[in-house]
Amino acid sequence: MKILGISGSPRRGGNTDLLLDEVMKGAASRGAEVKTIILNELDITHCQHCDACYRAGRCTINDDMQTVYRELERADRLVLASPVHFLGPTAQMKAMIDRCQALWARKYILKIPPLGDRRERKGLFVSVGALKMANLFEPSLAIVKALFTVLDITYAGEMVFRGIDEKGIITKHPDALRRAFFAGQELVDN
Ligand SMILES: Cc1cc2nc3c(=O)[nH]c(=O)nc-3n(C[C@H](O)[C@H](O)[C@H](O)COP(=O)(O)O)c2cc1C
Repeated sequence: MKILGISGSPRRGGNTDLLLDEVMKGAASRGAEVKTIILNELDITHCQHCDACYRAGRCTINDDMQTVYRELERADRLVLASPVHFLGPTAQMKAMIDRCQALWARKYILKIPPLGDRRERKGLFVSVGALKMANLFEPSLAIVKALFTVLDITYAGEMVFRGIDEKGIITKHPDALRRAFFAGQELVDN
């Protein structure tokens, strides 16, 4: 089983990355093949709404998103991880999601499987935010769930932590990293 983790944080080794690492370690401990993509290190331009994908079934912009499409197609499980920036996912994550319009076009215009085949895929969402407000993750969750629906990925749940701001402070949380590790194991087991 292949597990793809995608981090949208610009802060390398920050709270999101630390949580994602644990999810991936948990998945690897169950024998999964794991791969992590750090969006901030890639060159992914914004969707230009050129509609080329409506005919081609693929995005014609030749940048690092082409690698992400390939990895998405290969993965059996997807872990999307992004801190909250202005109440939504980071710009890095949103740019990647918008480029999945090409996969939307496959499904809804060309009537072909968005990820190339119909095998069952599942996805988990990981997030942190500084504030403690109850609905902090709602905008991000709506976006991520919409993406999973478009990609025919079954939503497997979320791991979200409020009141997390300083770089690395998630390591002081009583059980966040342990829960992230278990979530990675569960993603493979189920
Ligand atoms: C541009 C920017 C916008 C942010 N907006 C929010 C916000 O709307 N709500 C919130 O709770 N935290 C917000 N934060 C705080 C981050 O979510 C928080 O510091 C988080 O722990 C960063 O995670 P990371 O270490 O994985 O990058 C923002 C941080 C930045 C840099």
